[in-house]
Amino acid sequence: MAVRVGVLGATGAVGQRLIQLLDPHPEFEIAALTASDASAGKTYRQAAKWRVDSPIPTDVAEMTVTATDPDEVPSDIDMLFSSLPSSVGADVEPAFCDAGYVVSSNSSNGRMDDDIPLVIPEVNADHLDLLEVQRDERGWDGAMVKNPNCSTITFVPTLAALTDFGLEKVHVSTLQAVSGAGYDGVTSMEIIDNAIPYIGGEEDKLETESRKLLGEFDGAELSHNGMDVAASCNRIPTIDGHLENVWVETEEELTTDAAAEAMREYPSLDLRSSPDPLIHVFEEPDRPQPRMDRTLGDGMAIAAGGLQASPFGLQYNCLAHNTIRGAAGASVLNGELLLEKGYL
Ligand SMILES: NC(=O)c1ccc[n+]([C@@H]2O[C@H](COP(=O)([O-])OP(=O)(O)OC[C@H]3O[C@@H](n4cnc5c(N)ncnc54)[C@H](OP(=O)(O)O)[C@@H]3O)[C@@H](O)[C@H]2O)c1
Repeated sequence: MAVRVGVLGATGAVGQRLIQLLDPHPEFEIAALTASDASAGKTYRQAAKWRVDSPIPTDVAEMTVTATDPDEVPSDIDMLFSSLPSSVGADVEPAFCDAGYVVSSNSSNGRMDDDIPLVIPEVNADHLDLLEVQRDERGWDGAMVKNPNCSTITFVPTLAALTDFGLEKVHVSTLQAVSGAGYDGVTSMEIIDNAIPYIGGEEDKLETESRKLLGEFDGAELSHNGMDVAASCNRIPTIDGHLENVWVETEEELTTDAAAEAMREYPSLDLRSSPDPLIHVFEEPDRPQPRMDRTLGDGMAIAAGGLQASPFGLQYNCLAHNTIRGAAGASVLNGELLLEKGYL
């Protein structure tokens, strides 16, 4: 029987992707939709300006959107996928956990808390067991798991493939699509014919979240990876797909052939939304490109290319679909992991 799930922030850019992914999902059944008070009481069709590249699911379109409040959501919901602005999530997500709901969240609030697992299942599924610590410390009947920022998810799997060489220093420069800012994030007058070399708070997220994701969990505490990470973030006028340029210095010698092999062979998982392979490595020097490669693995794969030696270590490019692998798909995958590990 399918698990009954709800979507918090269902009308937004990530919320719509969540609905697109959850509606046909055999393990989940959409049973609740929430948004701001301005949307509450409307049908989903009325409340959401649907912009995703497939028709609005007819059963979801006629559901009534409620306010984002634990008292408004049916108690027989097993899991909530959250795509709320982080300022909103910071207040209401803990209230949902306290009320007994398991929340798989995209929002940045709490991602760096010691007892909140920040998870990319193919990279650090074992960190999910931090939920035992979380329940002890917070006394929640529910639980909270986070997926990382969209630009963090894009490069961390490629680093995970290289950990055996001893990661020392990582430089990453991003070229991020406009959908990453949400529907109201960047105006056309700002971004057409332009690039914006600043995304507030983003560099810090890449630098800190990557160290947490590649850290070690000993069953009680999580220690963060000691590598140095420097990030520079840029917004460019693509719709979907974050492209990133990466330089990695390692303790042990790392040839381009060895790096390509490690990325190609990096294992995926047997979860429904995990792509196989996880990382596509292109030989062509001009790939990956956002428009051509963002839908690899149904938008859940990481694409890499341009591997070469440089004075700053191994250099390469990587790409992921920011609202699928970087957001909605990441939350759904964490939901599948929660289900597999018996946390629901
Ligand atoms: N876009 C991406 O690629 C991406 C990637 C990773 C993570 N994220 C994170 O995911 C979250 C959502 O991003 P988004 O791009 O989907 O944003 P968005 O398009 O602006 O959507 C925000 C959603 O939250 C609802 N909301 C706004 N204020 C609210 C309030 N006070 N109470 C309850 N609901 C409220 C909105 O409902 P109304 O329609 O009623 O206003 C809408 O459903 C953010 O935390 C973002 O940082 C986004």
